[in-house]
Amino acid sequence: MADGNYTNIYKCGKINSDMQKNPYPGKFIVFEGIEGSGKTTQAKLLAEQLSKNGKKALLTREPTDDLFFGKLARLMYEAESAQEFVRESLKGLLLNEEYLNSKRAANEKKLMYITRLEEMAAKKISLEHQNIILLLQTIMTLDRHEHLSQIIIPALREGTVVVSDRYFLSTVAYGAADGAGWRPFLEMQYDVLGDEFLMPDCSIFLSVPVVIGLERTMKKQRGRLEYHDTRERLERIDRAYQEAAEDLRSKHGMVMENFDGSGNIQSVSGEIWNKIKPIISL
Ligand SMILES: Nc1ncnc2c1ncn2[C@@H]1O[C@H](COP(=O)(O)OP(=O)(O)OP(=O)(O)O)[C@@H](O)[C@H]1O
Ligand SMILES: [Mg+2]
Repeated sequence: MADGNYTNIYKCGKINSDMQKNPYPGKFIVFEGIEGSGKTTQAKLLAEQLSKNGKKALLTREPTDDLFFGKLARLMYEAESAQEFVRESLKGLLLNEEYLNSKRAANEKKLMYITRLEEMAAKKISLEHQNIILLLQTIMTLDRHEHLSQIIIPALREGTVVVSDRYFLSTVAYGAADGAGWRPFLEMQYDVLGDEFLMPDCSIFLSVPVVIGLERTMKKQRGRLEYHDTRERLERIDRAYQEAAEDLRSKHGMVMENFDGSGNIQSVSGEIWNKIKPIISL
């Protein structure tokens, strides 16, 4: 049995490279924020506004709906438990054609993370909490790589404005909220995404008090709260978002705009539109 120590498991990352600035004609806009902050609502409104103004827009989200690792991530959070997920879904991994194609195309670093999934599937790694969090974020990051290479980059190449509901900062913030700090999750992005780790032209962070995020989520889910939607956890996620964003802003020149997401839907949308217009040359 491999040991469950967090740093012994994921230490292949080194932040010695940089995110790639978008070299394509299309623009890449992403939405981030805690649950209930309004990402899905505002991403949709922005994509509609872009289309109305004659811009070709693609609204997309993470985890993805149709790519292999995106579907796997959704199965993971819909499962009764991580144990059930590993037993029922992860076990079939080695036989899945889409998975095998990804594995064949993977470079050395990505392969290390893929191998980790296989070790989980073979129950060589314990299902303790930290490892479950890493498993989920690894699957999300593998999905992100396919999202970039199969959906985002081809659209940007064609001059489309890509609007993504969540991107890498979600992994960094949600991973960190479980106590391991955000840096290893950022390292995972450099490792797995490699040269395709594209910096958004603008990250829109919707900021809402945790109680508002929880209240909206409660309404949307008609009372059922996901296991992670406690006030304390959302506060940790929010803090990790801020810390990681500050670091990325100062050291990597990441463009991130904060918006108060607690205003009414139309006024938040208007403020976002004003900020985005010059970025997309309108
Ligand atoms: N500014 C707003 N004022 C009031 N309600 C809002 C506002 N923005 C969104 N909502 C409502 O709050 C709920 C959550 O919004 P939304 O689904 O857009 O959030 P989200 O950030 O995408 O959440 P999740 O992370 O869970 O996907 C929805 O029912 C939505 O209609
Ligand atoms: Mg949403």
